[in-house]
Amino acid sequence: MKRRFRVAILFGGKSAEHEISLQSAKNIVEALDKKKYQPILIGINKKGQWSLNEALDKRWPKTIKLNKAGKSLALAPGRKMGPLVRLSGQERVGPVDVVFPVLHGPFGEDGTVQGLLKLANIPFVGAGVLGSAVGMDKDVLKRLLRDAGIRTAKFLVFHRSSSDEIDFDNVQHQLGLPCFIKPANLGSSVGINKVKDREQFEHAIREAFKYDSKILVEEYIQGREIECSVLGNDDPIASLPGEIIPRHEFYSYEAKYLDEKGAALQIPAKLPAHISKEVQDLSIKTFKTLCCEGMARVDFFLKDHKELFVNELNTIPGFTKISMYPKLWEASGISYTELIDRLIQLALERFKRDSKLKTSL
Ligand SMILES: Nc1ncnc2c1ncn2[C@@H]1O[C@H](COP(=O)(O)OP(=O)(O)O)[C@@H](O)[C@H]1O
Ligand SMILES: [Mg+2]
Repeated sequence: MKRRFRVAILFGGKSAEHEISLQSAKNIVEALDKKKYQPILIGINKKGQWSLNEALDKRWPKTIKLNKAGKSLALAPGRKMGPLVRLSGQERVGPVDVVFPVLHGPFGEDGTVQGLLKLANIPFVGAGVLGSAVGMDKDVLKRLLRDAGIRTAKFLVFHRSSSDEIDFDNVQHQLGLPCFIKPANLGSSVGINKVKDREQFEHAIREAFKYDSKILVEEYIQGREIECSVLGNDDPIASLPGEIIPRHEFYSYEAKYLDEKGAALQIPAKLPAHISKEVQDLSIKTFKTLCCEGMARVDFFLKDHKELFVNELNTIPGFTKISMYPKLWEASGISYTELIDRLIQLALERFKRDSKLKTSL
């Protein structure tokens, strides 16, 4: 029998989406073609410690704890297919052929883990360091979109160091009301508020600064929330678009995770053909503009049934069975198992491509 590829699934993590990540990882492991791939499960707990989670096949936990022996893991950098080693005891776990990071938000989706994997010389699924970092920083992301002529909500950026320059009247004059206030680098709608008056404005500014030293104030785009999945490296493809219909004032943390009926998914979205096509074309353009690779989900607002605004892009979207990213591919003819297979192959392809690059004269 041919040797199976060893796929390390990195999951859990320090973010607010820890539990979502566990669910995503569980579904990925279940869907993995076991004849071709051997999963190696690496959990990251809420403190950021890595450990091998052999037990997960049997009982999937609600949160990652260090395994019983308290053994944590590290990557050994600088070797081709760098082996994973246990710190305590130096027992080998590896080598692994490819890593699939299933981590959301800071310390997982933002280029930090990607940099670590790059240093360790291990192929990995999804965007590289730059695409991941750009996708995480809404300020940089929106500047690049603007530069590429892709419509996005007007915005202002404020830094904590110069927060005394934040003036409600000026913001109201430039962006109108309501407006949205959000931390630049986060996700899951954490720290995001819709603001209608001065009092809410002041509260929302304080709230956003709790999570980041850079925040955005955005004009409010009243419209439908449309999402589209992208897959590929140099020549990416886009899925059929889907729609999120939040039942709360906006697609807040509560609507996403706390209220089971917080939002409905419409797959595919009910859109005229020309708008669907525009969503797909814009998704691919956005993916390329933001230096993405492998996969991403591009999120839009559709205003007045005609104007598309790119809201953001997620480089590691949710992967639960009911998540938009895999669901949109299913609706477009790519099953969950095939999707995982393609993502792993894209990771290997990129690694091979980049290995051929000269690094000096
Ligand atoms: N400018 C805006 N206009 C209207 N709604 C917005 C705007 N910005 C954010 N929202 C609402 O807040 C939600 C979360 O904002 P988003 O920028 O996508 O942050 P996150 O990365 O946390 O998902 C969106 O899905 C949408 O419902
Ligand atoms: Mg979002």
